[in-house]
Amino acid sequence: MDKQKIQIFDTTLRDGEQVPGCKLDTAEKIEVALRLEQLGVDVIEAGFPISSPGDFESVHSIARVIREATVCGLSRAVEKDIITAAEALKGAVRPRIHTGIGTSDSHVVHKLQTTREKVVERAIAAVKLAKSFVEDVEFYAEDAGRTDNQFLAYVCEEALKAGATVLNIPDTTGYCLPDEYGAKIKYLKENVKGVHKATLSTHCHNDLGLATANSIAGVIHGATQIECTINGIGERAGNTALEEIVMVMRQHPDLKKYTDVDTTMLSAMSAYVSDTMRVPVQPNKAIVGANAFAHSSGIHQDGVIKNRETYEIIDPKDVGVNNSSIILTARSGRAALAYRMKNIGYELTRDELDIVYDSFLKVADEKKEVLDDDLHQIAELRHKVAV
Ligand code: KIV
Ligand code: ZN
Repeated sequence: MDKQKIQIFDTTLRDGEQVPGCKLDTAEKIEVALRLEQLGVDVIEAGFPISSPGDFESVHSIARVIREATVCGLSRAVEKDIITAAEALKGAVRPRIHTGIGTSDSHVVHKLQTTREKVVERAIAAVKLAKSFVEDVEFYAEDAGRTDNQFLAYVCEEALKAGATVLNIPDTTGYCLPDEYGAKIKYLKENVKGVHKATLSTHCHNDLGLATANSIAGVIHGATQIECTINGIGERAGNTALEEIVMVMRQHPDLKKYTDVDTTMLSAMSAYVSDTMRVPVQPNKAIVGANAFAHSSGIHQDGVIKNRETYEIIDPKDVGVNNSSIILTARSGRAALAYRMKNIGYELTRDELDIVYDSFLKVADEKKEVLDDDLHQIAELRHKVAV
């Protein structure tokens, strides 16, 4: 069986930008969008045009500079939102309006204070209005993760009949378990009439740390678009991390899925978004964290020096990182010390290594990490003691 293409819908500039304190101006957003296009994403959600004049301007500017990717603007199922999104998207080569409404009982009863019937009516009206402006309309059923499957299927079917081209199934609160989310997508594939003509999309939040697992469960069960952000930034605990799902599909050929993302740009893209949006990346973050290819315990270092694949399932070069790093700490062994010494020009004999290793451990116990400057000083000791 051939591999199936999974569309990457990046929402760094919309859901990602909802992180407190990481507001970007229009010029910065245009730069992020251009880099996302270079990275190879299929859809760029550029913003929520009704939310502020600044966001309108950003979506409008991005719509005019992006030539390959689809540019998407968010709206609620509210007439003025949709009209404003359509206005902002003018000039886009591939415009998409993203509109929708809450479908879980919690949203219907408490947030919207309405009935399921009225929600369906609003969903239909919203999709029809969006469709009068653009061909490509994505419908989101907010809190689909906690919506009962039968009602969700009904809303989705009505949205499709009204003209939706994409059905977004958000786990808005990050509540679902992977099996449950996968089963939801499977249920929709089997129970929504006309679903084969539409793209089913995952949009998973990370409140329980399951966003990546849920998105992957979604594509295994028939979704063909994943919504995600660089570094997984987003509302509360964030969204599915783009770099994670792209690498899961790349490293697991058995899934038979692929994306058009140029993985060698992932590390630089992560750093760029982190700097521009002023959201640091946690050191142990999968794929792009500072420690993702760093080895510090003696046992691991010895294995990696002999064969990188002993402790690495990804070649760092594949994500744009030059090399794995061997970090010298008090947990490091002789193999790591010899390796790092060699890197800075000292080929130590076995005896010399035995001599300097004790000095190395003393320095390592005093400092958190032994750096090249320390190594030069330690290397001098090999002569003094050896003669
Ligand atoms: O999490 C969510 O439900 C959303 C929708 C607006 C798509 O971000
Ligand atoms: Zn979201």
